[in-house]
Amino acid sequence: MPAIPGSNAPFWRRAPKLILRPLDYFEDNYRRYGAVFQVGEGPPPSIYVADPAVIQGIFQADAAQFHVPPQNVGSGLTFLLGDHSLLLLDGERHRRHRRLLMPPFHGDRMRAYGNVICDLTAQVMANWQPRQAFNLRAAMQDITLRVILKAVFGLEEGDRYDRLRQLLSTLLEGLGTPFSAFFIFFPGLQKDLGPLSPWGRFVRIKAEIDALIYAEIEDRRQHSQPDRTDILALMMSARDDQGQPLSDGELHDELMTLLVAGHETTASALAWALYWVHWLPEVGDRLGQELDPLGSAPDPLAVASQPYLTALCQETLRIYPVAPTTGIRILSRPLTLAGYDFPAGAVLFLNIYLVHHREDLYPEPERFNPERFLQRQYSPAEFMPFGGGHRSCIGMAFALMEMKLVLATVLRHWELELAPGDSRPLHPVRRGLTLAPPGRLRLVPLAQRSPQPLALTP
Ligand code: HEM
Repeated sequence: MPAIPGSNAPFWRRAPKLILRPLDYFEDNYRRYGAVFQVGEGPPPSIYVADPAVIQGIFQADAAQFHVPPQNVGSGLTFLLGDHSLLLLDGERHRRHRRLLMPPFHGDRMRAYGNVICDLTAQVMANWQPRQAFNLRAAMQDITLRVILKAVFGLEEGDRYDRLRQLLSTLLEGLGTPFSAFFIFFPGLQKDLGPLSPWGRFVRIKAEIDALIYAEIEDRRQHSQPDRTDILALMMSARDDQGQPLSDGELHDELMTLLVAGHETTASALAWALYWVHWLPEVGDRLGQELDPLGSAPDPLAVASQPYLTALCQETLRIYPVAPTTGIRILSRPLTLAGYDFPAGAVLFLNIYLVHHREDLYPEPERFNPERFLQRQYSPAEFMPFGGGHRSCIGMAFALMEMKLVLATVLRHWELELAPGDSRPLHPVRRGLTLAPPGRLRLVPLAQRSPQPLALTP
């Protein structure tokens, strides 16, 4: 079989473009070498895959076929999430944690979270003033952080909630700059040179967050409330096949993982969706026609099942997927798929962005066109913003529900427009390991749509 084409440029030569202009980096390689290409000196080879036939085989393969990179140990991600994070676990431990974490994220639990999401969106919108532009990413992050602290941690408003909210947004804001991605890609840069140095500041904020999370876990153990429905309560009561619960350390690391994996990603997706709705008036009009008949206080599940709203969220996640590639998969043994021989040890990156921009699947891929999702069904290897297979995103149903409810709540209550400088085509920028709209993107509230003030559920 032919060798997999590609370039053997060393990492230090590829890194600046990969870190600072990742989409150009992917597209250049795709144009030059095709849908499966390798990069770097190897061995083992690092291989990017944008061929749905290969990706389908990988999603369907046995979990034992893959492991996660050992170099993650000691990396920026381990320091942030901890050794017990689902994102960094492998084999039997990964399977056990996934089974313990999945039930709270199951689709039928979404009704319980729906009202919380609408109420917290209303809380953030209450700060908006007519004609006063606000930063879109900051506003969406404010909503998604509140949602995660309430729905995942079950935190009630108070000192711990406020302090965690402050610290987490400072920590993740610091990690969100393209510059900070160097700490993740080059763990050797993680040097604590005192409280004013970038890494030293990070270490101190992280220590305070850890203490607050452990305090919350301890309080819950002391005052157990069996009727709680938040995700932490469900995780604390879950038992594995041997009847064992998650330890405090495991609970801490998984809470950190859910916070980091679930809050920035959804905020970026929401900021993009609101950008598209206001940049393309026909998209906003069509969405309005669908949402208006639902009335002023619709059932969250009725909102979430609207077809154009669903297609709009899908197209938002297609055109600029928040995670440009899936998590890394390393082959434990050789694999042959769709005419390619992948050797044991190969490091695979399934390239979500390139799959979502294939002309054969998505004609005019650069055009934002939600209708394509109303006209055609895509397979899990063709539309994959949440990855797939045994490592697929466990927050998918939650994130989609949150996107739809926040969008519908915002658009029902406010007439908005893009700030003058932002009314133009925008391109994603790197935020840590994810891609996001430019941080300066702003919206201007014009007028409240609903005559009555926003009511919060008591
Ligand atoms: C729009 C929002 C989101 C996007 C685009 C997204 C995307 C992804 C992707 C691409 C992966 C890697 C999948 C793979 O390697 O195949 C992933 C994994 C994961 N996501 Fe999400 N995610 C989102 C929201 C969330 C939310 C809300 C949560 C939880 C609150 C969450 C929790 C996780 C976890 C725990 C994993 C690791 C799964 C594992 O390794 O077994 N994500 N996500």
